Amino acid sequence: MINGTQGYEQEAPELLQRYEQMTFEHSHSGVLDLIPPPRIRVLDIGAGTGRDAAWFAARGDEVTAIEPTRAMREGAMKLHPAPNIMWVDDCLPDIASVRGRVFDVVWMSAVWMHFDAAERARMMPNVAALVAPGAALMISLRHGPIPEGRRMFEVSVDETEALARAEGLTRVRRENIESSYAPGVFWDRLWFTKP
Ligand SMILES: C[S@@+](CC[C@H](N)C(=O)[O-])C[C@H]1O[C@@H](n2cnc3c(N)ncnc32)[C@H](O)[C@@H]1O
Repeated sequence: MINGTQGYEQEAPELLQRYEQMTFEHSHSGVLDLIPPPRIRVLDIGAGTGRDAAWFAARGDEVTAIEPTRAMREGAMKLHPAPNIMWVDDCLPDIASVRGRVFDVVWMSAVWMHFDAAERARMMPNVAALVAPGAALMISLRHGPIPEGRRMFEVSVDETEALARAEGLTRVRRENIESSYAPGVFWDRLWFTKP
């Protein structure tokens, strides 16, 4: 079992509906204005149902969508058959399939809380290396009760910023909002740039 994926294979049929009910614009309203104009290279790590990958693809961006849970990935490919989304069966911490490449936006929505402190420390250099000079990294952090069957850890803005700073990334936006559907769940959405 790949760390972080616990529960997703079994729940995929339900999640492929639930995650798609929220629009990209609603979910990510706090950082929309920071997304560069179209025709950029996007890496979506833990792309889930492909909702976000599809939003970028519809603008004409070249999207690489990493998703290790087979049922999520295959369901997402059916939901969003865009030719400019390349789906890849790969996973953190190494994401070896994209090593050596760089992207204009590295997008990690609702993934970081699946890893413990040692894993997060090991992952940040790998993730930061994928951000092109002048480009951006978006990470959202989930806070709140852990759903049954999932592997999740408490994550903090301070720790995430410190890990990112050590890799030369600067935080330019923090948005903190309450989940619109899960009671007691809050999200921090962080946008980093690389000089
Ligand atoms: C809460 S979902 C978020 C999906 C999507 N990013 C979104 O915001 O709707 C977390 C996703 O991370 C994926 N995931 C879990 N462990 C992972 C790992 N080690 N590497 C990459 N993705 C992983 C899961 O399979 C799942 O699709």
